[in-house]
Amino acid sequence: MRAIRLTLLMALAMTLPGCGEDPKPPVTTNNAIPKDPALAQIYANSCQLCHANPAANAPLTGDRKAWEPRIRQGTDTLLDHAINGYNGMPPMGQCVECSEEQFLQLIGFMADQPLPE
Ligand code: HEC
Repeated sequence: MRAIRLTLLMALAMTLPGCGEDPKPPVTTNNAIPKDPALAQIYANSCQLCHANPAANAPLTGDRKAWEPRIRQGTDTLLDHAINGYNGMPPMGQCVECSEEQFLQLIGFMADQPLPE
């Protein structure tokens, strides 16, 4: 009787998941949101779906390296691509009510760098 109990206990101990192993945080996913509440809402409802999702192939929020060559195209081109779409980038980034000003703010936020004049 005693022996069986002991075997059970050992089996149980071996199936318990190891402690102290923190799950690794995702490398690229960024949970940052704009400080401005209105902008944060737009971002969360549209841009974030793709721009914080590595599987979407979009330049990720806060990934300055990914954004640098895009920023170099100039503000007009960026705005044009945001409004009219560009490959996997849907027109208006799924925010039909967004103003040009808001697009520029969102792009600046995601790129984590100022847009050229
Ligand atoms: C359905 C997914 C999706 C959503 C939603 C989305 N984007 Fe994009 N975006 C993309 C993808 C994919 C690219 C990369 C396109 C490429 O370079 O081929 C991109 C690229 C861009 C670019 C760079 C274009 C360039 O010239 O390199 C800007 C600017 C941009 N998105 C802004 C936004 C903004 C602002 C929002 C929210 C209002 C938004 N996107 C929402 C998928 C999305």
